[in-house]
Amino acid sequence: MKISLCGKGGSGKSILTTLLAKQAASRGLQVLVVDSDESNSGLFRMLGLDGPPVPFMELLGGKQKLKERMSQKNVLRTDGFLIRDIPSRYLVKRDSIMLVSIGKILQAFEGCACPMGVLSREFLKKLCLNSDEIAFVDMEAGVEHFGRGIDEAIDYVFLVVEPSFESLSVAEKIRGLASGMDKAVYAILNKIDSEETARRLGDEVKARGLKVIGTVPMDPLIFEACLEGRALAEGKAFHAAGKILDSLLKVQI
Ligand SMILES: Nc1ncnc2c1ncn2[C@@H]1O[C@H](COP(=O)(O)OP(=O)(O)OP(=O)(O)O)[C@@H](O)[C@H]1O
Ligand SMILES: [Mg+2]
Repeated sequence: MKISLCGKGGSGKSILTTLLAKQAASRGLQVLVVDSDESNSGLFRMLGLDGPPVPFMELLGGKQKLKERMSQKNVLRTDGFLIRDIPSRYLVKRDSIMLVSIGKILQAFEGCACPMGVLSREFLKKLCLNSDEIAFVDMEAGVEHFGRGIDEAIDYVFLVVEPSFESLSVAEKIRGLASGMDKAVYAILNKIDSEETARRLGDEVKARGLKVIGTVPMDPLIFEACLEGRALAEGKAFHAAGKILDSLLKVQI
């Protein structure tokens, strides 16, 4: 199963990616986290890993070479690959969680992130998972990844919605784009501080034609860990992510 986490900037995509990955690992699954966000680089910290992996883009000669190859149909010249085929320098691993990072924008004027988008799409298309493996893809903020077709190989799109009108607007756009691609989309209500907020946001999300798979509370342990750049603690948001994963595994069966 390949699951993407998308939504407005700052809505909680990386937090949910991390918490779902940890929950999946605690259920005995081998978990691949794919960092498809070319801007932020702190996902390894949230996951409690020592450092980031070498960007996968380097395997193909870096951004410049990749640009030249963009016009070719298959950027990755293989019909398919397994997690174990990924060379170890492009993977950081702890226990049964592995992190791959597609590529980052590091310098001013280095150009757009389109080559990374192409690579993310090809990587996800050609990644073959065994039945005891699951992949969570932390997407860039907004809707551009749909335009680039990165979600083509995704089985479930998790749309992270925080209590703001802007977040709802992005959610509505994503629902439209995902339905055009025939994708199963579920909303996760994040940063929920009361039952009243959960009800109001839930109503707004449903009015936009989305199903809600779970609700994640505002968790001071998450806030603290993010402020200090530490691995995410396992508090009430972690518990809520466990329920979401259970619901997903039930849908799958
Ligand atoms: N459930 C939560 N409880 C407490 N704080 C949260 C929760 N979810 C998110 N946050 C806060 O929101 C911030 C943004 O979360 P996160 O980095 O996951 O967002 P994002 O959608 O990945 O952002 P970006 O679009 O920049 O990648 C965190 O630094 C944290 O402070
Ligand atoms: Mg993020």
